[in-house]
Amino acid sequence: MSAIKTLLGVVCFGHLTSAVLYSSPTEFVPRDYDYIIVGGGTAGSVVASRLTEIPDVSVLVLEAGISHEGIINSQIPLFCTTLTPNTPYDWNYTTTPQAGYNNRSVPYARGRMLGGSSSVNYQVFMRGSADDWNRYAAVSEDDGWNWNNMQQYIARNERVTPPADNHNTTGEFIPSHHGFSNGSAISISLPGRSTPIDDRVLQTLQEQSDEFPFNPDMGGGDVLGIGWMIASIGHGQRSSAATGFLEPALPRDTLDVVVNSHVTKLVQTGTEDGVPSFHCVEFAEAAGAETKRVCASEEIILSAGSIGTPVLLQVSGIGNRDELTSLGIETIVHNPSVGKNLTDHPLLAGVWTTKGNDTLDSMFRDASLLDSYVTEWTDNRTGPLVSPIANHLGWLRLANNASIFETVEDPASGPNSSHWEIIISNFWAVPGIPMPAEGNFVTITTALISPTSRGELQLVSSDPFEPPLINPNFLSTDFDIFALKEAIKAIKRFMSGSAWEDYIDAPYGDFANANTDDEIEAFVRNSAASIYHPLSTAAMSPRGAGWGVVDPDLKVKGVEGLRIVDASVIPYMPNAPTQGPVYLISERGADLIIADLDDSIELC
Ligand SMILES: Cc1cc2nc3c(=O)[nH]c(=O)nc-3n(C[C@H](O)[C@H](O)[C@H](O)COP(=O)(O)OP(=O)(O)OC[C@H]3O[C@@H](n4cnc5c(N)ncnc54)[C@H](O)[C@@H]3O)c2cc1C
Ligand SMILES: *[C@@H]1O[C@H](CO)[C@@H](O)[C@H](O)[C@H]1NC(C)=O
Ligand SMILES: *[C@@H]1O[C@H](CO)[C@@H](O)[C@H](O)[C@H]1NC(C)=O
Ligand SMILES: *[C@@H]1O[C@H](CO)[C@@H](O)[C@H](O)[C@H]1NC(C)=O
Ligand SMILES: *[C@@H]1O[C@H](CO)[C@@H](O)[C@H](O)[C@H]1NC(C)=O
Ligand SMILES: *[C@@H]1O[C@H](CO)[C@@H](O)[C@H](O)[C@H]1NC(C)=O
Ligand SMILES: *[C@@H]1O[C@H](CO)[C@@H](O)[C@H](O)[C@H]1NC(C)=O
Ligand SMILES: *[C@@H]1O[C@H](CO)[C@@H](O)[C@H](O)[C@H]1NC(C)=O
Ligand SMILES: *[C@@H]1O[C@H](CO)[C@@H](O)[C@H](O)[C@H]1NC(C)=O
Ligand SMILES: *[C@@H]1O[C@H](CO)[C@@H](O)[C@H](O)[C@H]1NC(C)=O
Repeated sequence: MSAIKTLLGVVCFGHLTSAVLYSSPTEFVPRDYDYIIVGGGTAGSVVASRLTEIPDVSVLVLEAGISHEGIINSQIPLFCTTLTPNTPYDWNYTTTPQAGYNNRSVPYARGRMLGGSSSVNYQVFMRGSADDWNRYAAVSEDDGWNWNNMQQYIARNERVTPPADNHNTTGEFIPSHHGFSNGSAISISLPGRSTPIDDRVLQTLQEQSDEFPFNPDMGGGDVLGIGWMIASIGHGQRSSAATGFLEPALPRDTLDVVVNSHVTKLVQTGTEDGVPSFHCVEFAEAAGAETKRVCASEEIILSAGSIGTPVLLQVSGIGNRDELTSLGIETIVHNPSVGKNLTDHPLLAGVWTTKGNDTLDSMFRDASLLDSYVTEWTDNRTGPLVSPIANHLGWLRLANNASIFETVEDPASGPNSSHWEIIISNFWAVPGIPMPAEGNFVTITTALISPTSRGELQLVSSDPFEPPLINPNFLSTDFDIFALKEAIKAIKRFMSGSAWEDYIDAPYGDFANANTDDEIEAFVRNSAASIYHPLSTAAMSPRGAGWGVVDPDLKVKGVEGLRIVDASVIPYMPNAPTQGPVYLISERGADLIIADLDDSIELC
């Protein structure tokens, strides 16, 4: 970018008077900004917040969804299960028929409001293993992404808060592994309510410590074992990118946010240093509505997520030339990696019925009881509704002598990283499948953490409002089906411990018939779904690599003016649900943007 542009955009900035949250494009009169952020989701909110901490840097956020304000179900932690799929807060995607799932399509939830998926997710909060980040550094050839360098962003990004019930958390986590930020940050906490299975889990960890060791804190780089869950919940309420980052930034008169604004096109505005430059975007409230255009002197930041970002790149002419041409889209940059290499964590829940009724299920069936808990939550931010989806989770490996390793190289990110995950909930916690009318349940959710399957997104037309074909290609490799089957066998061993004898009745539904190897395989293929962690559709790769969509500084390859900061740039699945890694990518992404700004200020 030129010094002149920076001079106009930054130093001579001063035409805005106050920050505004516009409820639609119709109300909004486009002006010029230093930065435009596409998508006010998890990453977009962090970047907007960090950039506007710099005086005089002006930022516009365009968000397709609604405002998060006043959406009570998004605030109440345990109501996370009601927010998706197929609700006003969801993009309502589904996958293509998955061959590995016996041709079933499964829901593919994505948040559609300020805060994005962090406003609708299940609030499990982790950041992955040291191995994961060291792999990101190795794959991108940028040591800045390694575990040691990312520690500064952990400190800045999170704020440990007391659990809602104020219990003594000694022994449940290791404070030095965590951030106690005083600024804009995501609030995190240990479970705010004990459950009748907490002690049974801990007893099982003692009795079967070889297979299921206790991990005193999975935030320090070594994730292996089972421990207490940390969630993005503060003072009994969901902490999202909207509440943790956008809200504190909104009073700044350098930030404008427009909701109900779907960005439909990245507009090429010229050529700079021999490559196409993009400094404007077009947006509209809905298909057929009036389209507006707005421009940024510095950069357009794409934070539309693993689905939205590659769709927008492609409808704007950045993608595989053959595919774009067949849809009548003029190619500006031929890049066959856009939308490819989609990866995700397959999810599979094993459910058991319980002998008694001391689970959260009863409450969900008793409207007046539930009402009283909503009142308690509203008045005091206490009671069962402050609960995260589980009080314990863990990260586990296949045995070193597992037969699959005779033919397949271990795909885990390192020796201290897992192949599969376990989440232990004292209620029916099966995403997308409603609770049965009767019964009380314990759910052990498993997820395959080191998948080797890769899928893709495919546009079906040049229309930016048209959902793409989403094919995660679940369980398409021998390793993936092997590992998820082993996870199912392992959770049965976990539940066979003496701690559960008087509590658990029997496996429920098809899970009850999954005993032989073939039956387990049938159960896996008939019942697995997604834990909603799509990544890698605009992956980072080394500068000059023959694949990948962004350089390690997150700038889009082959163009000027575009950067991507969201889940799509992460090249491999982490040992974590994905919000934590996205938050950390966003913190460093904001630093990289600001570093370039500082350089150009020196030019002035
Ligand atoms: C139901 C569910 C449960 C999950 N549970 C967990 C969990 O427990 N723990 C965890 O760590 N992770 C969880 N995740 C995953 C995690 O929330 C996501 O990986 C992460 O939030 C993604 O961040 P992002 O910034 O890449 O995308 P998002 O947060 O999804 O943000 C993208 C934003 O861009 C907007 N957008 C898209 N296209 C456009 C466009 N063209 N114009 C304007 N705006 C656009 C979207 O509306 C959205 O607000 C879950 C996700 C879901 C959906
Ligand atoms: C998703 O489905 C819900 C429920 O039918 C609907 O209200 C919402 O508008 C849909 N969202 C989109 C983006 O189509
Ligand atoms: C899935 O669909 C493919 C293609 O239509 C077909 O060949 C295959 O037999 C189907 N598999 C199952 C299990 O139905
Ligand atoms: C919490 O428990 C630990 C260990 O049992 C104890 O040392 C500590 O004093 C307790 N803290 C408070 C505030 O009670
Ligand atoms: C937050 O503020 C407290 C009290 O001022 C201070 O002790 C602590 O170091 C600060 N934490 C961070 C991460 O800045
Ligand atoms: C997918 O990622 C791998 C590296 O993990 C890379 O070698 C390959 O070229 C990528 N494929 C595409 C189409 O980008
Ligand atoms: C739960 O079981 C107890 C007996 O153990 C019974 O008194 C109570 O009514 C039951 N509650 C519900 C909601 O079924
Ligand atoms: C809120 O807390 C107060 C003080 O502990 C208590 O008296 C009140 O009953 C609580 N409200 C509800 C609805 O539980
Ligand atoms: C792996 O080793 C264990 C003993 O450590 C043994 O019990 C088991 O049978 C071995 N499994 C295989 C597949 O060889
Ligand atoms: C794995 O973790 C152990 C224990 O925390 C540690 O000693 C070891 O160095 C780690 N190994 C690697 C390769 O990171």
